[in-house]
Parts: sequence; C-alpha cells; structure tokens
Amino acid sequence: MCTDKKSFRVVITGKGGVGKTTLTSCLATVLARDGINVLAVDEDPQINLPYALGLGVERAAAIVPLNLNSDYIEEKTGINPKKNSWGSMFKLNPDVDDVVERFGMKVAANLNLLVMGTVKQAGGGCLCAENVLLDSTIRHLALRENEGILLDTQAGVEHFGRALSRGFSHCLIVSDDTFNALHVACHSADLARQIGIPNVCLVVNRAGDGTPGKLARFETETGKPLAELFDTLYLLPAEPRLAELEPEVTKILESPESRYAAAVTALAARLGAPHCSCSAPAA
Ligand SMILES: Nc1ncnc2c1ncn2[C@@H]1O[C@H](COP(=O)(O)OP(=O)(O)OP(=O)(O)O)[C@@H](O)[C@H]1O
Ligand SMILES: [Mg+2]
Repeated sequence: MCTDKKSFRVVITGKGGVGKTTLTSCLATVLARDGINVLAVDEDPQINLPYALGLGVERAAAIVPLNLNSDYIEEKTGINPKKNSWGSMFKLNPDVDDVVERFGMKVAANLNLLVMGTVKQAGGGCLCAENVLLDSTIRHLALRENEGILLDTQAGVEHFGRALSRGFSHCLIVSDDTFNALHVACHSADLARQIGIPNVCLVVNRAGDGTPGKLARFETETGKPLAELFDTLYLLPAEPRLAELEPEVTKILESPESRYAAAVTALAARLGAPHCSCSAPAA
C-alpha cells in the first residue's frame, strides 16, 4: 500500500488500443485540477498523449521527443547519436536533474508533459546513449516527491523487460473484456510484480452489461482468478462521445452526465488519496 501523502508514480500499460492514453490523459487532468502536481510522461513513439491532453495540434506537432534530442543526449552522455559513435565511451549515469525544467511542457495549471520517445531495440537491448539517457530520466522521475507521475506506455509488455517502471507505486493495467486483452493483462500483472510494483490494478475499459459474464468465463477457461492476480478491479463504461471528441478526449470531463468521466474521477480520487487505498475492494 502506498502511504506517502499524495505522492504516487503510476505506469499505465496494456494491449494495443484498449484505452491507455485516454485514461492517462483524463486521470492527469482530474488530478491536476484537484491540486496535485502532475507530470504526464509519454513513452509511446506514436506520441498520442499531447493531443489527448488538448495541447493543440500546432504545439503538439512541434514536440521533439527526448530520444531525438541529440544535443541534450550529447551534453549529458558525451555522445552525439547523430554521429557514428559505435565503440565510443559514454557516461552510464548521466545527471538529468534538469530534464523536466528544460523539456517538460506546461499543459495546464499543475500539469506538465514530458515526451520521451521510445528506446531503440537491438537484439533485445541496446546499450547506446539514447537508451542510457531515457532510462536515467525515468529513474530520476521515480525519485521525485510530492507529485503524481503518470507514465503512458507503448502497447504490450516490452517496457517491463527494461524495468522502466521499477520503483513505481502503481501499475494500472488497462484491458477490455476480450480474452486476448485479459490474457495480456494477466501476463503484465506478473511482470509488474516481478519488478516490485506494490499496487497492481486491472482496469476493464468499455465495460458493459456483458462484462461480468465475460470476466467469469475468462477465469473458468484459464484458471486465472482475477481477484487474486490484481489488487483492485476497476470498470470504466463504454463512452460513445469519446469518438466525437478525438483527439481532445479530456473534454469528456466537462460532461457531468458522462459515466466514463465519473468513473475516472473516482479512480483518480483513489490514487490521490492521502493514504492510498488501492488494495481495498473495488467500488
Ligand atoms: N471507455 C471508452 N469507450 C469508448 N471508446 C473508448 C473508451 N476508451 C477509449 N476509447 C477509444 O478507443 C480508442 C483507443 O484509445 P486509446 O488511444 O486511449 O488507446 P491506447 O491503448 O492508448 O492505444 P495504443 O495502444 O495505440 O496506444 C480511441 O479512439 C478512444 O477514443
Ligand atoms: Mg496510447
């Protein structure tokens, strides 16, 4: 259980297209409005989060993700990735204390965004200057206090292989009620536990009347008891208006009648509670 006051680091993960970025952007917006200092981090090379947060097409399109910022990488590691530097020596633990101040974009009061870009893969792991810088950045963010960090990840489980979210307090695993998405969610839960994340929650998105039955069927077919694999189960209803609002999906929070907005607000309240009760039974 997370006991430090309003300080939490959340990784949002799950299969492709299940609603990770929509949830991240809405949670970030609600928490920031509640007075929590929020840093939203986009680790997905598709860079959808700035648009979802309503940054506007012009500002969002101008963003250079950190992994493509060769000047900063050179300043911090001693290697410019644009030049051919194979075999060169570089700093393995660069000091990235200034990364948020220099590259964080202010989205709204209390809400900043950092766009990482993704790590290059080379035979399952690449010890290059970009990777070292990105990993150092996440490790540094994971040490910051008195704020909420929300890390929106690329689809799938690859980021667990790099233990990017080691030291985080929560893992929100987003799924829909299909077999394949739930299967990925269970695998993700296992990986999140392996890197020591204490609160592992299942968020079933686009939930409807048939969802409880589908979850029960998944449990019977696979022998995986969801209540044992996850600390908490959250259900987020299907929200047809999100399709109209795209890409600025956080505008759904302005609709008091939206059940999706209400459910995300309740989830945010659980994360932002002084003594996090994430392991209590789902509401
Ligand atoms: N509860 C919901 N009801 C209806 N549509 C939803 C809901 N949540 C998300 N969506 C829609 O589903 C689509 C995918 O959402 P989103 O981009 O958040 O998924 P993602 O998991 O981040 O995808 P990716 O894996 O590509 O990063 C979007 O069109 C979004 O508006
Ligand atoms: Mg996404």
